[in-house]
Amino acid sequence: MISLPLVAIALLPFTFAARQLDAGVVHAPIVRRSHSNRVANLPKAVEALRNKYRYQAANVKNPNLKRSSTVAIPITDEENDSSYSGVVSIGTPPKNFNLVLDTGSSDLWVATTSCTSCGSDIPEFDPSKSSTYKATSSPLKIDYGSGWVQGTIAQDSVTFGSFEMSQELLAATDFSSGLIDDGLSGIMGLGFASLSTLNTTPFWEAFYNANDLSEPLFSFYLERYVNQPNVICAAPGGTLTLGGTNSSLYQGSIEYLNLTGPQSYWSLTVSSVSVQGKTINIDSSSGLAAIDTGTTLIGAPALIAASIWAQVPGSVELIGDYQGLYGFPCTTDVTVSISFGGTNWAISPLDMNLGTLNDTMLGNVNTTSRMCVGGIFDVSIDSGPAWIIGDTFLKNVYSVFRASPAAVGFAQLASGLSSSNGSSDPNPVQVTGSTSPSTCSTGSGSSTSGSTGSGSASPNKNVAVSVALLASVAGCFTLFL
Ligand SMILES: *[C@@H]1O[C@H](CO)[C@@H](O)[C@H](O)[C@H]1NC(C)=O
Ligand SMILES: *[C@@H]1O[C@H](CO)[C@@H](O)[C@H](O)[C@H]1NC(C)=O
Ligand SMILES: *[C@@H]1O[C@H](CO)[C@@H](O)[C@H](O)[C@H]1NC(C)=O
Ligand SMILES: *[C@@H]1O[C@H](CO)[C@@H](O)[C@H](O)[C@H]1NC(C)=O
Ligand SMILES: *[C@@H]1O[C@H](CO)[C@@H](O)[C@H](O)[C@H]1NC(C)=O
Repeated sequence: MISLPLVAIALLPFTFAARQLDAGVVHAPIVRRSHSNRVANLPKAVEALRNKYRYQAANVKNPNLKRSSTVAIPITDEENDSSYSGVVSIGTPPKNFNLVLDTGSSDLWVATTSCTSCGSDIPEFDPSKSSTYKATSSPLKIDYGSGWVQGTIAQDSVTFGSFEMSQELLAATDFSSGLIDDGLSGIMGLGFASLSTLNTTPFWEAFYNANDLSEPLFSFYLERYVNQPNVICAAPGGTLTLGGTNSSLYQGSIEYLNLTGPQSYWSLTVSSVSVQGKTINIDSSSGLAAIDTGTTLIGAPALIAASIWAQVPGSVELIGDYQGLYGFPCTTDVTVSISFGGTNWAISPLDMNLGTLNDTMLGNVNTTSRMCVGGIFDVSIDSGPAWIIGDTFLKNVYSVFRASPAAVGFAQLASGLSSSNGSSDPNPVQVTGSTSPSTCSTGSGSSTSGSTGSGSASPNKNVAVSVALLASVAGCFTLFL
């Protein structure tokens, strides 16, 4: 019943050769972890997105539902916006785990106590303590671009918000190093069933199919910490509303854009990008984009990434390990907006600046300015979505993932929430969740379950200073692509 539907991939070398490889659709959630800084981790992350996948048809199950309608689920921002997680309860009695919330994949997996490669910082689910756990002996491996997870297919009670069902999941016994960050225990896929390696209906879609969502959609507000002066491993990071939208989180109307192509990824078509005031029109043949909360940055086709950065004076294509990424003078505010056929949605310059490159990272790139790394890179995918629109973009809008009619919607964030107009003003981060920002100093402090109170991370309006800190302070940092 279960065959591995993915073309295998293992880590491709980060070279032009990788671009010749083909087949299938890029799979989005790639998780990279390291205790070194963000800029140092970028090459591995870019490499990861170049891996290729295929997907299988869905096998719709009949979930055993407990009724609900709309629920707001707090999101945790992991490591300065590198990823966003939510609490998912598994088993009977239920145990809480922080899982990556990923619109770019469609499987649910959790690390178990049988995990051989999980470090002590990965909270594990103990199947023997759950009275509703149903084991199988069917092994399964799920490949992600930067790694894999394997285990056995199982089923258990899963609760997310107040929604509960008996869900098929992967009980993970092993995963590749760095696939998830400390404090997290797995991934909850929020894509469509056709992408599922388990060949099952994703949690959200089961409730949609059963008409149990008050509206056939879910919505994200993602907070911004990339500009924070503090070293942040985990902090209140926004809200996922399952089954509805929350009108306090956005203003104006929601612009819905029909999905492009079949329901697999949440795919739109990029129609134009504007950079430093200049508009670049995108041919529809190179505009297919996966809208992916599980990806940190924005991946664009090679030629388009080059045209984008050509509008930023002094920018350079990086070389060696950093090939595919671009550097630009740190004093420049890079203002980019993206249209999917309607509004030009602006990205804050804060999100376009990932930190400073030191001399080693620059190699023999010839420049006299202090250079920073940009948030748009050349992902060079040969088939499937040409673009991966990740959190660098999604932090700037309220986003709605609607199953019927199938669309992704964007709206301007409510005033007082993170800037959505591309101004260089970072705006204070709103601390709305139930967790407080935690630091990385112990290297293991990113588990947020049980912490309380509302920390106040003070905004740092001096971009240059915060950028310098990014590069000079070595905290734990994960880049999810
Ligand atoms: C978060 O950002 C701050 C300020 O830019 C930086 O000092 C810190 O090292 C970053 N934390 C991580 C985990 O990268
Ligand atoms: C909508 O968001 C606001 C601001 O975060 C929150 O106070 C409110 O409870 C939310 N409403 C619902 C119905 O979740
Ligand atoms: C979007 O899809 C809806 C429903 O399928 C359809 O009625 C509408 O014409 C489409 N809009 C555009 C702009 O294609
Ligand atoms: C640049 O940063 C990298 C990664 O943190 C480090 O290994 C390297 O030594 C640094 N090089 C210089 C010249 O500071
Ligand atoms: C853009 O955002 C900044 C910061 O929130 C605000 O001061 C400014 O008025 C906004 N500009 C527009 C045109 O909305």
